[in-house]
Amino acid sequence: MARVRSSYVCQNCGAITQRWQGKCESCGEWNTIVEEAAALGVGGASTRKGASGRPFPLEDLSGVSKPEPRVVTGIGELDRVAGGGFVPGSATLIGGEPGIGKSTLLIQACAAVARSGARTVYVSGEESTAQVRLRASRLGLAAAPVQLAAQTLVEDIVATLGSGDAPRFVVIDSIQTMWSDAIESAPGTVSQVRGAAQALIRFAKASGAALLIVGHVTKDGQIAGPRVVEHMVDAVFSFEGDGAHAFRLLRAAKNRFGATDEVGVFEMTGSGLAEVPNPSALFLAGRDGASAPGASVFAGVEGARPLLVEIQALVAPTTLGTPRRAVVGWEPARLAMVLAVLEAHGGLKLGQFDIYLNVAGGLRVAEPAADLAAAAALVSSLTGAVLPHDAVYFGEIALSGSVRPVAHTGLRLKEAAKLGFSRAFAPPPPRADDETFAANVTSIGSVASLVALVAASAVEAKSRGKPSSAPFSPSTG
Ligand code: TYD
Ligand code: MG
Repeated sequence: MARVRSSYVCQNCGAITQRWQGKCESCGEWNTIVEEAAALGVGGASTRKGASGRPFPLEDLSGVSKPEPRVVTGIGELDRVAGGGFVPGSATLIGGEPGIGKSTLLIQACAAVARSGARTVYVSGEESTAQVRLRASRLGLAAAPVQLAAQTLVEDIVATLGSGDAPRFVVIDSIQTMWSDAIESAPGTVSQVRGAAQALIRFAKASGAALLIVGHVTKDGQIAGPRVVEHMVDAVFSFEGDGAHAFRLLRAAKNRFGATDEVGVFEMTGSGLAEVPNPSALFLAGRDGASAPGASVFAGVEGARPLLVEIQALVAPTTLGTPRRAVVGWEPARLAMVLAVLEAHGGLKLGQFDIYLNVAGGLRVAEPAADLAAAAALVSSLTGAVLPHDAVYFGEIALSGSVRPVAHTGLRLKEAAKLGFSRAFAPPPPRADDETFAANVTSIGSVASLVALVAASAVEAKSRGKPSSAPFSPSTG
């Protein structure tokens, strides 16, 4: 029987089909299926023909294994996301959109590790050594003893890494540019990416080097092609941010050696990425919420870190048949839900208004806890009442109109207090004796009570003939 020589692999999800198709049945993407040489699975390889397996000794759980110290880069935000430095012999995939700063972060990490005396290798498949050097000298890192290479053939890279002292820290930038002699497909295809990653990871495990692999991400947030690599590595980090703003978030999506809810915050400056130990201050800088209606401060939590951001809303009479709803930095579906609840349970009529919602600073908020802050900003814009400038908001809004408790209340309140906010509007505590609820926390039990509070301060302001920043009277809705 003739052996199948090639198969058709989706470059988005890695699904294999027997013939070419325009659309991948598995992930629904169009034009992602490419013909590749069939990968030979277990038993398919012609090497070691006729050889039978060789038994090896098994060990028990109580055995003693000395953990090697982690490779600490000295970049605190990076080490923290890694779980306190990188484990020797581990492989980490760092994904992010082109231009977000992956190469910058990793050359900085390499320089820091190299300065500590450990052998550090940076292999670029995208830039020439001259370009990498130029960047390093702009960053003031030219003197660091990092070993550089501009190579893409994995067999050569593994051979080079394996000669001389074992490297402690190896960066491969990026996996999409790597290719292996043993695989017949073009560089960048799923088979090549998978094969190259396998060879590099095998080297890392054998040599004890901490391996960092860069992977480019497609627009919809997936690591293109290297999706398949996610399963092979020990940790997957994503480097996020938006081109118009300077901050960058490093998140752990998977981490065998640390918590996955860690977030590192950086700022892209003229001299590379700087750590941001106090991100709330960055996001609240230049806030004008103290004087204008339609702005509230959300006490959020990113991973395990509290993060205060301003939420801005604009509710304006529409001139269109179908009013506009636009949202930046938040889920459009969540906005639609909050608006529906405000109409159904808050007594607001929003059908004649265009509505815009924006999370300041370019951050993307995914927490349901932002509901209450968004609702407060919306009601404030609609009524013209300025929200108190020293208050933060958080709480999840249910379809019934009630405001539900969220996690990390204490963390949110502490961060707010640290940044000079003296009041919080939050869901009622789950238990009456909850000590995290200090006297300066106003319980908002329902959207109706939120609307009543904001409307009351609007009426008060009108009677005094000026925009109000009148404090809300405490209430338990
Ligand atoms: P880069 O690390 O090349 O991104 P990636 O490897 O993720 O594709 O970052 C490139 C961007 O960073 C580029 O648009 C310029 C900017 N940048 C700075 O703002 N300051 C700097 O010191 C450096 C090195 C880059
Ligand atoms: Mg790069």
